[in-house]
Amino acid sequence: MTDDTSQPVPDPVAIGPGRARQGEIYRAGISGLRPAVPTDFAGLEQAARKASTPRGWAYVAGGAGEGRTMRNNREAFDRWAIVPRMLRGVGERDLSTSVLGTDLPAPLLLAPVGAGQLIDPDADLHTARAAAATGVPYVFTNQGGTPLEETAAAMGSTPHWMQLYWSVDEGLVDSLLQRAEASGAGAVVVTLDTTVLGWRPQDLNLGSLPFAQGLGIGQYTSDARFGEIVAERVERAQAPGAPAADKPKVTLAAIRSLLSITRSHPGSFWSNLRSPVPRAAVETFLDIYSNPRLSWDHVATLRDRTRLPIVLKGVLHPDDARRAFDLGIDGIVVSNHGGRQVDSSIASLDALVAVRDAVGPEPTVLMDSGIRTGADVFTAIALGADAVLLGRPYMYGMAVAGQRGVEEVVANVVAELDLTMALSGVADVASIGRDLVVPRA
Ligand SMILES: Cc1cc2nc3c(=O)[nH]c(=O)nc-3n(C[C@H](O)[C@H](O)[C@H](O)COP(=O)(O)O)c2cc1C
Repeated sequence: MTDDTSQPVPDPVAIGPGRARQGEIYRAGISGLRPAVPTDFAGLEQAARKASTPRGWAYVAGGAGEGRTMRNNREAFDRWAIVPRMLRGVGERDLSTSVLGTDLPAPLLLAPVGAGQLIDPDADLHTARAAAATGVPYVFTNQGGTPLEETAAAMGSTPHWMQLYWSVDEGLVDSLLQRAEASGAGAVVVTLDTTVLGWRPQDLNLGSLPFAQGLGIGQYTSDARFGEIVAERVERAQAPGAPAADKPKVTLAAIRSLLSITRSHPGSFWSNLRSPVPRAAVETFLDIYSNPRLSWDHVATLRDRTRLPIVLKGVLHPDDARRAFDLGIDGIVVSNHGGRQVDSSIASLDALVAVRDAVGPEPTVLMDSGIRTGADVFTAIALGADAVLLGRPYMYGMAVAGQRGVEEVVANVVAELDLTMALSGVADVASIGRDLVVPRA
């Protein structure tokens, strides 16, 4: 007689990034090991603060004015609640998606974060290597310390995009666009919200601007067009009858600044120290890096200047979103720059809802500012984002544990997103819809 009651062995359920990350942490815990970075945001922030210099912390964690926009960003997330659905038989999840031809393993990119050298001299390379290790694309900052070509070389096969600040020098804009294309960037992201620097009391109170120390200007000092502008400036300053330059008071801090500028400039320290070029490069940068007159007319020229998909970052008003798509722009990032530009600005998540309602389901809309956890990513996707950009959290990870810290932060966010999808009955990113969130009572 055969045993008819025997059941076939069930197919194993794929473990997914959420359970994999939990397993990794709990297994290491058996040997008494703890994760390199805290897995909750409050703990991460506290550890990062401890690991940073006062100037580094002021720059990365600081915001505009009284910090109301940063608070608004977080409070907006608190006003939405996820409504998990049960019994949907979701054993496996597919977190992958594609944005403007770039494949993403999860609906997440690493945001452009400038002057990361205040946290680690190799911030851009750490981020690039962590992106390569996790497969999450990285949007290079225009304010990197490392030339974009070197950062691109550290990305392996993981895609990168390039962020651009629109300089008053159109030749520099073209040069950066060409370099972005040549580096294999998947898109160019033009940041609209920083035509001037916001009022940032944390930095102002320390008299601290990284660029004035030669930090965060590596894309410029490696640029041929920028080099020409600097050379002209030096020539003008050395011409007979040129007015004498203002010399800063000689203090210990002034000497430190000079050394920082000298060290950060390409070439040998000793020849830089004797040369007027490194200081002229800083002054030139401060004069030309962004264009306060930036308008739709500038943006309208972009299509003819690059073959890359064009993304506008910093859109908050539905009319601006509509206008961007009417102009043929490929995508937008709804963002208030992490609350660093305008104090008391609309929360990015609130703007996302209005923008998505205005432009309909088709256009590519990304979002950042306030994303801290995987549950936040879920909420932003449910409210209409195609993907989100992670900003401060990965820099905090770097402050605590370098490249490994960035990797862990990314892995943790992706893990929590995966678990939130599993526990909410969602099998893929396209199914994270508006029906899964409600305004909090
Ligand atoms: C220290 C720091 C530097 C930044 N630098 C840039 C930059 O160079 N270019 C840019 O487009 N956005 C920059 N941003 C904004 C981020 O790309 C992103 O919009 C922001 O970090 C999102 O807010 P969150 O970090 O609070 O989530 C920076 C943000 C921070 C915190």
